[in-house]
Amino acid sequence: MSHHLVAFDSVSFCYPDGTEALNGVSFRIIHGESVGIVGANGAGKSTILMHMNGYLLPSSGIITIGDLQLTKKTRQEIRRKVGMVFQNPDDQLFMPTVFDDVAFGPLNLGLPEEKVRERVDEVLKIVGCLSLKDKPPHHLSSGQKSSVAIASVIAMQPDILVMDEPASNLDPKSRRQLIEFLKDFEHTKVIASHDLDLILDVCKRCIVIRDGRIVADGLSHEILSDRGLLEENNLELPLSLQRVAYGNDKIMEGERWTT
Ligand SMILES: Nc1ncnc2c1ncn2[C@@H]1O[C@H](COP(=O)(O)OP(=O)(O)OP(=O)(O)O)[C@@H](O)[C@H]1O
Ligand SMILES: [Mg+2]
Repeated sequence: MSHHLVAFDSVSFCYPDGTEALNGVSFRIIHGESVGIVGANGAGKSTILMHMNGYLLPSSGIITIGDLQLTKKTRQEIRRKVGMVFQNPDDQLFMPTVFDDVAFGPLNLGLPEEKVRERVDEVLKIVGCLSLKDKPPHHLSSGQKSSVAIASVIAMQPDILVMDEPASNLDPKSRRQLIEFLKDFEHTKVIASHDLDLILDVCKRCIVIRDGRIVADGLSHEILSDRGLLEENNLELPLSLQRVAYGNDKIMEGERWTT
């Protein structure tokens, strides 16, 4: 199904201050793929993701989302296909109440009010925030804001789900709920994260970015078990693989792994 395609062809991007954040990035993500984007701070992960819904347009190269090439003209249409959870939930929440924020997208899609109410309840339940429905988003804790931002995107039932550090503020139970939701989400998903256990759990494929370039692109279980590659990129083995690598009795840096 080509409408779920995300393709970058030699994409470069330079911020207005002259920072070259992306340099010749090419990949092709097809329908139903789950792809993790990993790399050190400042590697270019958020910059890549912000191109996927046309929040940024490439300085050079071609981006294709579904059947459309990303341009100023097509970006509105592309945003209807691509649900984007930003790294900072404050960039996403701007309505007077949580309900209004989550309902905003579905109402814009033209769904009848009754249907929108049902959908808002459904997605707030998924992220465990139904009781916050009438609160102003700026009164929420950062984890609650992240959960509501995620709810506002999944309420749109996007063809392509793009998430930038979705679990960074979440408590363990909310993180687990998010992982279960993502595993069930059958369309294309792209997730940038430093939470390599989440990537390993949810994404079959993983792309490693360094200084705005792709340095590895392959199966997550291969890439995320490659200690040398990870260390070169300021990353570490996912915790679940560290236990396997060191064994449960090995003392590491003064800590004993518990079983
Ligand atoms: N608005 C901006 N203006 C200028 N430079 C920027 C801007 N936003 C990001 N950059 C630079 O672009 C590069 C890539 O940043 P980006 O935010 O994509 O990194 P990242 O991989 O998402 O990092 P993190 O893991 O910290 O979220 C960095 O060098 C950053 O300093
Ligand atoms: Mg980022």
